[in-house]
Amino acid sequence: MKTITCTAPVNIAVIKYWGKRDEKIILPLNDSISFTLNQDEMCARTTVAVSPSFTEDRFWLNGNSYCSVLFAVFLLLVYSIVLSRAYISVRRRASKRKLEGSIEDILNWHVHICSVNNFPTAAGLASSAAGYACLVYALGQVYGVEGDLSSIARQGSGSACRSIYGGLVRWYKGELDDGTDSVAQPIAPPDHFPNLRIIICVANAGRKKTGSTDGMRQTVQTSRLMEYRVKESVVTRTEAMMEAIQDKNWSTFCDLTIADSNEMHAVCLDTFPPCVYMTDTSHAVASLVHQYNEVKIARGDLNHKVCYTFDAGPNACLFVPGAVVKEVLALLLRTFPPGPSQSPTEYVKGIPAQSATLSKELMSLGDEDFEGGRLKYLIHTRVGDGPRLMLDA
Ligand code: DP6
Repeated sequence: MKTITCTAPVNIAVIKYWGKRDEKIILPLNDSISFTLNQDEMCARTTVAVSPSFTEDRFWLNGNSYCSVLFAVFLLLVYSIVLSRAYISVRRRASKRKLEGSIEDILNWHVHICSVNNFPTAAGLASSAAGYACLVYALGQVYGVEGDLSSIARQGSGSACRSIYGGLVRWYKGELDDGTDSVAQPIAPPDHFPNLRIIICVANAGRKKTGSTDGMRQTVQTSRLMEYRVKESVVTRTEAMMEAIQDKNWSTFCDLTIADSNEMHAVCLDTFPPCVYMTDTSHAVASLVHQYNEVKIARGDLNHKVCYTFDAGPNACLFVPGAVVKEVLALLLRTFPPGPSQSPTEYVKGIPAQSATLSKELMSLGDEDFEGGRLKYLIHTRVGDGPRLMLDA
């Protein structure tokens, strides 16, 4: 028997993937760029065991307690299709290798897979990306597959290919029909922007109304704005983003990140019927960030700007320079206070941070007429590495 346990990270795109040129093998319409998040706060964990005594392939997907039995069955069905694709792809690549004796045995054994996430599934928090990357990485470890695994991860969930690497990662859309050039590659290490923090503002941890796959399909079919995005704006912005990363130009990086998130949500609204992911609370967080940045710009303190991005959900992901993280947390706590029965540690999960006293100027920020909802909680994390091997026995 051979058992492997791995963890894999979440990634958050700063240039978004939205729209496919091939749905079957998941080829995107544009390149995307993401940060990989640290796994101590958020990760997927997968154990794969192969044994000659197993009589069938089996898998377990944790976190179904929120589903009805029927929904759990549906989830398992969807997952099994995706899972079998990864399984077949990894095994195919393993078979291609010049096999050592032990690997040949393993290839004939049945597999048991157990997968869990330590954060909300399907809430626009890139859980499928971490889960799928973890599965592919773990299978790759079991069968000793070498080389790039991102093109296999991509076929389960597009954004999963970026979770195969740490730091800043670019997923190249590729030109070929067979997708062999649609791969992710690391473009900068985790500490490229030193001491960068990430605060995820969870407004809703439930399932999103329109899943990414359906949403993207509808956008591609109906949005004229999407044509402009794909042919012009996202291409130019991606190159500008690469330059900002190379130059470590944080201020430009922030502006481009915000612009791309807003453009993705604009094409979602231009979709017919519209895909609406952001809520009043999401807009209030975005507005707070703009107000905060105005203060920084007025002071010429461009290196301490903050930026936001939203995936297909209402939860803002903020990128915050470490030097101002206490201040930003204090601002968030003041504008979106914890629930009456929530302690500060329940409210701010992840890296512990004492909150700072706010200056008068920052005390006045926030929209006075905002009557939207609360945030459920915050996750404070940082940039991190790619998948890890935890146990090999
Ligand atoms: C909004 O990877 O979930 O998070 O390939 O259809 O499974 P499928 O989509 P998925 O797309 C997520 C898109 C996004 C933006 C991004 O991560 O780039």
